[in-house]
Amino acid sequence: MKITVIGAGNVGATAALRIAEKQLSKEVVLIDIVEGIPQGKALDMYESGPVALFDTCVFGSNDYKDSANSDIVLITAGLARKPGMSREDLLMKNATIIRDVTTQVMKYSANPIIIMVSNPLDVMTYVALTASGLPKERVIGMAGVLDTARFRSFIAEALDVSMQDINAFVLGGHGDSMVPVVKYTNVAGIPLTELMPQEKIDQLVERTKNGGIEIVNHLKTGSAFYAPAASAVEMIEAIVKDRKRVLPCTTCVDGQYGIDNVFCGVPVKLGKNGVEQIFEIDLSESELKALQVSAALVDENCKSLATLLA
Ligand code: NAI
Ligand code: 2OP
Repeated sequence: MKITVIGAGNVGATAALRIAEKQLSKEVVLIDIVEGIPQGKALDMYESGPVALFDTCVFGSNDYKDSANSDIVLITAGLARKPGMSREDLLMKNATIIRDVTTQVMKYSANPIIIMVSNPLDVMTYVALTASGLPKERVIGMAGVLDTARFRSFIAEALDVSMQDINAFVLGGHGDSMVPVVKYTNVAGIPLTELMPQEKIDQLVERTKNGGIEIVNHLKTGSAFYAPAASAVEMIEAIVKDRKRVLPCTTCVDGQYGIDNVFCGVPVKLGKNGVEQIFEIDLSESELKALQVSAALVDENCKSLATLLA
């Protein structure tokens, strides 16, 4: 196994270190556009091996040749929104970056599985699929695992129980339109609705939807990266170990949930071939409508990139 992480910023570097510490591959390559950053961070991580007890080779580079023959490529490159920048500016700028990064990746790796992290997540996953020419099951977006982890942690805190016992699903696009699915949320099998009043559930759902901005408001200069990196690495582990995990991931939904060929977060089976199955679960009328609205927003943004991707 060889894993490449593109973007040696907060999410990319944190993910690379977790991959090394979990020894998910023999080699982790960290690539960034800024000279010195991937080299310095990768060497620093590698030097932690003797004390953190791993033998994974961590290597930093600005050259995509070093990503050659990767089995998995995690893409975290891109810009965050700055004052004076519209969402559309970010969409166009990151789409250009992701198109170019994906093209470089594909020059040196014939059939990798790409896991996208860069925002706007669902649209960037579509850009990577289009630019790579890979089968759709091999291009997957990370958002649902993170949004669900947030929901799970808030429920665990509210009930004072182990996070491990909370099962939940947050579906839809990664943004204001995400859909925490309360019907499938339980604590060791006990429906959440039996453990707390609806008003409290509504508060936790709202906090989950605003989970990203809550961190930004604390940090002020950037966005979340520990939980995002852990979430991306959970997906990578499922693929590397062919664990057939059932996780909410962004994939090309084609017919399920009345959604036609749009990237959106749904429950999938993750194994060595990427997305091996999409589960079409029974949603309430309002949840299904919310999922479809979320997908329609993603679709609209994808269509706005037609010229860029032509
Ligand atoms: P960051 O700013 O710390 O790191 C981004 C890195 O990308 C920088 O090191 C930068 O030099 C590099 N980069 C920029 N253009 C590049 C190019 N053309 N080629 C290679 N590298 C390039 O940002 P952070 O916090 O790591 O976030 C990265 C992305 O992930 C952002 O778009 C952010 O919004 C997104 N994100 C998505 C999450 C999700 O749930 N899907 C969660 C957290 C972050
Ligand atoms: C988050 O949800 C920034 O998308 C990122 O934290």
